[in-house]
Amino acid sequence: MLQTIIWGIEHLKNIPPIKEGKRLLVVSDSSFPLLPIHESIMTSLSEYTFFCDFGSNPLYEDVCKGVELYHRNNCEAILAIGGGSSIDVAKCIKLFSNMESSSCFLKEKFRDSPIPLLAIPTTAGTGSESTHFAVIYYNGAKQSISHSCILPNYAILEPSVLTTLPIYQKKCTFLDALCQGIESWWSVNSTPQSIKHSCYAVRTLIDNLDGYLIKNERSSARNVMDAANRAGQAINITQTTAPHAFSYKLTSLYGIPHGHAVAVCLPEIWLYMLQHEENCIDSRGFGYLNNIFHDIAAALHQPTPRDAINFFKQILNQLNIEQPQSLSKTTDIDILVHSVNPDRLKNNPISLNPTAINDIYNSILL
Ligand SMILES: NC(=O)c1ccc[n+]([C@@H]2O[C@H](COP(=O)([O-])OP(=O)(O)OC[C@H]3O[C@@H](n4cnc5c(N)ncnc54)[C@H](O)[C@@H]3O)[C@@H](O)[C@H]2O)c1
Repeated sequence: MLQTIIWGIEHLKNIPPIKEGKRLLVVSDSSFPLLPIHESIMTSLSEYTFFCDFGSNPLYEDVCKGVELYHRNNCEAILAIGGGSSIDVAKCIKLFSNMESSSCFLKEKFRDSPIPLLAIPTTAGTGSESTHFAVIYYNGAKQSISHSCILPNYAILEPSVLTTLPIYQKKCTFLDALCQGIESWWSVNSTPQSIKHSCYAVRTLIDNLDGYLIKNERSSARNVMDAANRAGQAINITQTTAPHAFSYKLTSLYGIPHGHAVAVCLPEIWLYMLQHEENCIDSRGFGYLNNIFHDIAAALHQPTPRDAINFFKQILNQLNIEQPQSLSKTTDIDILVHSVNPDRLKNNPISLNPTAINDIYNSILL
């Protein structure tokens, strides 16, 4: 499915479902009234129902409430405004609203949904506005939903929204985008097109880190929103790899935000991969992968992959992004090792067996 990317909230009123006055389900969370674009959005909409009954790391049950509201109000299109959580909830509402009622939508076969979906990302970010995936939690476990129809038809990028994002959230979502760019680059599923997106995303994020996170410059915010979107486009092609697979249980076990959890995993996994070239599963070989590691290091302005790993750790230090502290490390590591989805590891260029996963978690936890 194709997507149209539009810069500037002033264009919202001209996007077909809005222009045609379709009845909207607006999916957003409690940050919506704080956004500088709140007024401008409200004046662009005609008939709408607001849905905000969900939190960060949304649950399946939250989505079901949204589906019910969508039907009850005879909605015709969905507008998501928010970070990855709001956008992912909206994607699942789109998918499930077009399914027959069932005891559990997750157990049914997904089918194409024609409901128009628009997304305005406010975190820069998860890139969820440009992927065909959604993450929700069911019975305490992460569920990755994937269907071509949940790629939003329109993504509206408006950097002014980043002015209200709290600094810790800014750091976490920035790091999520950086990890996505790096992971997509080394993924076994990479293509020339995905690598183009990754390279642009990683370079742009690094070159705007100070401007965005330290100096609060407006031009850097625009560049970071652009780069986060490109990182999303990259993982839309390749999917994510081991750092994301390792991160999900850290989020649910220690309550740390998604971007924070992924970022503490990435340098330890990269180091392990450098030390275990014999376990390379990328059909292009370790020579190819090693070149990719050097290209990523170059994008981080570092001479070698090892320097790049140290540099990445320095960034975490500079941003005060700390490793999780475990009070019962052996028990926690056992839970964590069992949580890693083996399917997601298939995208990782170096295979990781349970001993490797155990050792890596041991170095991630304090
Ligand atoms: N679908 C995908 O492709 C994809 C990719 C990566 C991550 N994700 C998922 O995205 C979720 C995380 O999303 P996120 O990191 O964007 O955070 P989020 O959507 O959970 O938002 C985090 C917090 O920031 C607030 N917030 C968001 N934008 C704001 C703004 N501009 N001003 C003030 N407050 C604001 C929210 O209200 C919330 O309290 C996770 O569930 C993760 O699994 C999805």
